[in-house]
Amino acid sequence: MTKFITNHDVTDALKEVIFFAKQNNIVDLNMVDNIEIKGNDIKVSVVFPKLDDPAVGIVYNSIVKKLKDKLGEDINVDVKPIDEKDKGLGPLSGVKNIIAIIAGKGGVGKSTVAANLAIALSKTGSTAGIFDADIMGPSVPMMFGVEGGQPEVIDRGGKPIMVPLENHGVKILSLGFFVKPGQALMWRGSMINNAFNQLMKDSEWGDLDYLVIDMPPGTGDIQLTLAQSYNIRGAILVTTPQKLATADVRRAAMMYRQDKLSIPLLGIVENMSYFTPDELPDKKFFIFGQGATDELAKELEIPVLGRIPIVEKIVESGDSGTPIVMDENEKVTAEFIQIAKNVKAEIKKL
Ligand SMILES: Nc1ncnc2c1ncn2[C@@H]1O[C@H](COP(=O)(O)OP(=O)(O)O)[C@@H](O)[C@H]1O
Ligand SMILES: [Mg+2]
Repeated sequence: MTKFITNHDVTDALKEVIFFAKQNNIVDLNMVDNIEIKGNDIKVSVVFPKLDDPAVGIVYNSIVKKLKDKLGEDINVDVKPIDEKDKGLGPLSGVKNIIAIIAGKGGVGKSTVAANLAIALSKTGSTAGIFDADIMGPSVPMMFGVEGGQPEVIDRGGKPIMVPLENHGVKILSLGFFVKPGQALMWRGSMINNAFNQLMKDSEWGDLDYLVIDMPPGTGDIQLTLAQSYNIRGAILVTTPQKLATADVRRAAMMYRQDKLSIPLLGIVENMSYFTPDELPDKKFFIFGQGATDELAKELEIPVLGRIPIVEKIVESGDSGTPIVMDENEKVTAEFIQIAKNVKAEIKKL
């Protein structure tokens, strides 16, 4: 039986491979350019200052040994040394933190949170991108006002590479650029996975501090692909306050966190938390109830990163292509900015 090896497993093992010239491990030295896993086959590209150096052979052997020690003698390891001047060719090599936005079911505001968070990350001084992987309901193109847009395809060393679109200071790619409405239901799991991988890897994201992924709701194949092929920094749960909604997101959260995927949970964003009428600005009405989100946060031992009230303008702004966080005068903008700051703080703690 093939075991399920994740990018995390490989990265952890590579942390024990030391590059003696710099007295540190190759992961912390940013020498790992790319990791590819297919079943029991692992391909690792490693950047060296010089290729005609005995250290290359030492590191090479050490990588093979550590990976086999940790992951089993039956794995096949292929190490590709790369010259420093050619580095950065690995896909996603310029992306520092990949964050998955997850929910138990559709309609809780996952895309709304993903879009506003990506912009808030950029507004608070970071470079950010958003990848819309929700193939059944891709809504990021509309929210960013780039619906119907087609990313440019350029040639990089004989390989066609996609260039993300850009708006509101955020780089954008969406499965929705390639799937016609209603068509997604006919896609088989393997096709969805291939499309997902192509958009993630065969794209020129450039240098990004954060790449926010709007994940499909629930637990499925894409979740496994994501964990196996990419080094995910953490996942953020989005839920509404109803008990039923928190039960759904709990299941999704457990899948991400369990040993197999081992993606850290950064925290929960509670959406549609309360309603404040214009004429009663000091009042909060907890229409969907109160307490279930805090209970879940306590149980999972993760923080509540923020609470977004029910705001009519959020619906309008989502439909009009300019997410609400672009409007400095909206009260809820400050909430999203605070969530972005909290996310950065949680990542620092990892
Ligand atoms: N806090 C909110 N207040 C009011 N409407 C919201 C709020 N969050 C989301 N919505 C609206 O709810 C609908 C579903 O949100 P969406 O982000 O598309 O959910 P999901 O991605 O989880 O399916 C959208 O019409 C969106 O504008
Ligand atoms: Mg959505």
